Amino acid sequence: MSFTKLSIVATGLSLYLTSVVRAQGPGFVPLVNKRFNYTNLPYKVDTDVGLVRGDQLGYNICNSTTEGAASLCQTLIINSLDDFCLWAPSVPGKTVGEIEGEMIAWCSQPGHGTRIFPPGTITGVQLTKTPDYVQVVGFMDQTKVNMVKGDAGGEMDPHGADLRGNPMGGVVFSTAWGGNYKQVIEWHNFNGGDAFCLKACDPSGPRQAAMCQHIYDTQGCGFNAPSNARNGVFESCAGDSQDPPGTGPGTVPASSLCSTFASSDIFEGTVVVPLPGATGAPTTRSAKTTATPTPTTSSGGSSTSKTASGGAPTQSSGAGRVIIQGAGAFGSAFALMLML
Ligand SMILES: *[C@@H]1O[C@H](CO)[C@@H](O)[C@H](O)[C@H]1NC(C)=O
Ligand SMILES: *[C@@H]1O[C@H](CO)[C@@H](O)[C@H](O)[C@H]1NC(C)=O
Repeated sequence: MSFTKLSIVATGLSLYLTSVVRAQGPGFVPLVNKRFNYTNLPYKVDTDVGLVRGDQLGYNICNSTTEGAASLCQTLIINSLDDFCLWAPSVPGKTVGEIEGEMIAWCSQPGHGTRIFPPGTITGVQLTKTPDYVQVVGFMDQTKVNMVKGDAGGEMDPHGADLRGNPMGGVVFSTAWGGNYKQVIEWHNFNGGDAFCLKACDPSGPRQAAMCQHIYDTQGCGFNAPSNARNGVFESCAGDSQDPPGTGPGTVPASSLCSTFASSDIFEGTVVVPLPGATGAPTTRSAKTTATPTPTTSSGGSSTSKTASGGAPTQSSGAGRVIIQGAGAFGSAFALMLML
């Protein structure tokens, strides 16, 4: 794209976003600008009665009374290999593209007031903690979390056409950066094609917006969150940061210090997996005991290990490829700008 065309598009985008904010009324605050503490979340983060998209489906105060099969919790947690959530539909029958604004949190552990993954949902996952982010990338039986069989999926992020987020009012918290829960400001989650990737960028990191870029919503996990994830393997690793999506050669970054586990131990059993390089006490979930990591070198890919990832979600695996149908106003507006 020429520089002139680029600046026309950029101007168009900023005019469009300005008009979105105006259309939401003078008090409107984009989701990505809202700040919360985990312990004093409002019942609903999204206070905007949407002219176009309606109200926030669920709620953000999630506890033992909301937990289980009827939960509509929209507060998502990503802590460790054994303790993370994904955004998925509350009801079956609709594709990610159709229902991205109403996704709810499904989690690997009880304790977050959410729905819980049925056993066998996650069939392989690699957690990677890098200087810029923590991510889980892997494979799943997506029908177990109300996704349509064969749906190539789409992207969730805290932006969206009307800046209310997808899901609207969805917020993300993590203990990955020490101490209590911290709100994750920039994140993206691609689910589809029986694969997933969820990246939470360090909320005090200088590259969080670039690393958790939200504009490549049709490109999937291989492009947005390259990893060494393999189906059938459950491992927790440290790693280098990828090139920000859309920049650099996009090779799979090296992962290291990997520890592998049995899914039955970490998801149904008692094993708590500390983050790679974590010091001090592990999590205090009472029913669980601390894991003795089994060091492996199996996925210690180098920066040239792109083809060694053996089935890591790639563009062709589909996660996040078919967002256009559900992108609504943003898709149309963006297409319009490209035609300028
Ligand atoms: C979160 O809690 C801290 C300490 O109580 C406080 O200083 C901060 O303002 C709170 N932030 C928000 C967004 O409520
Ligand atoms: C539990 O969550 C529900 C739904 O958000 C909320 O209405 C209720 O007040 C919460 N209970 C406590 C004790 O916080």
